[in-house]
Amino acid sequence: MKDAMRAEPTASDGSPKAPRRPTIGVFDSGFGGLTVLKALLELVPDADYVYFGDTARLPYGSKSVETVGRYAVEAAHYLESHGAQMLVIACNTATALALDRITSAAHVPVVGVIEPGAEAAALSTKNQKIVVIGTDATVSSHAYRTALEARGLSAREKACPLLVPLVEEGWVEHAVTEQVAHIYLTEAFADGFRNADTMVLGCTHYPLLKSLLRRVTPDHVNIVDSAETTARAVASHLGQLVPAAGQEERRALPRMKFFATDSVEKFRRLGERFLGHPIVDVQHVDLKE
Ligand code: DGL
Repeated sequence: MKDAMRAEPTASDGSPKAPRRPTIGVFDSGFGGLTVLKALLELVPDADYVYFGDTARLPYGSKSVETVGRYAVEAAHYLESHGAQMLVIACNTATALALDRITSAAHVPVVGVIEPGAEAAALSTKNQKIVVIGTDATVSSHAYRTALEARGLSAREKACPLLVPLVEEGWVEHAVTEQVAHIYLTEAFADGFRNADTMVLGCTHYPLLKSLLRRVTPDHVNIVDSAETTARAVASHLGQLVPAAGQEERRALPRMKFFATDSVEKFRRLGERFLGHPIVDVQHVDLKE
């Protein structure tokens, strides 16, 4: 995979040439994948990004395998046609339901969010018991359970469908959200999983609720953010983890181009909350069914 991303070590006259910055395509059903892009910007600043948010067709979390697969493949092709040399499927639902289909349809390397999340959970746990929270579709697919069981871990998956709309409403520190999260997590950390020591945030929106979730999760539990772990997986694929501060100057800031299938204005407004940076270059895309 690294070889696919490295190019032109020398110019035609044989003189050393600066390595070309890779273009990474990031796909999500909407705004949530911007949490993964945010983590990527920190860990892999030496790249350019094209982001596709399928805002006209979200949520994916309540849709079927067939529909999510078809939408995700269209988006993957769109990103490739805009120069993506690698695809990051930032959406947990699309990864859970369609990673194999996307990987077979794509012509470039594809990284999903579930394997990195499961790997981080495996490194975190001491008692092999993991709670995963996500959308209905992610939980019904049991993709996290499969990935965790393959590492010898037991998993309880808990669907928390109300959390996505609450985050999109901006209620990330709201008493209602706290109460909803408390109800979900009380159900998740029960019976055989009362002492689970690791919880995976298996949805793009949940990193925005990290401090609220910290308050309602038992103190002994380590929270794994799949946005961060996915960015680390991409960084190691690219072999370009950021050097320690001060050791090497950073090159130009990443260029970012965004595509959204619904309102550009709404993407900009909501997206900035997820990304934590201004969103400037957004283009509307009309994907024909
Ligand atoms: N991006 C989705 C995920 O990570 C959440 C939003 C949706 O349901 O489309 O599962």
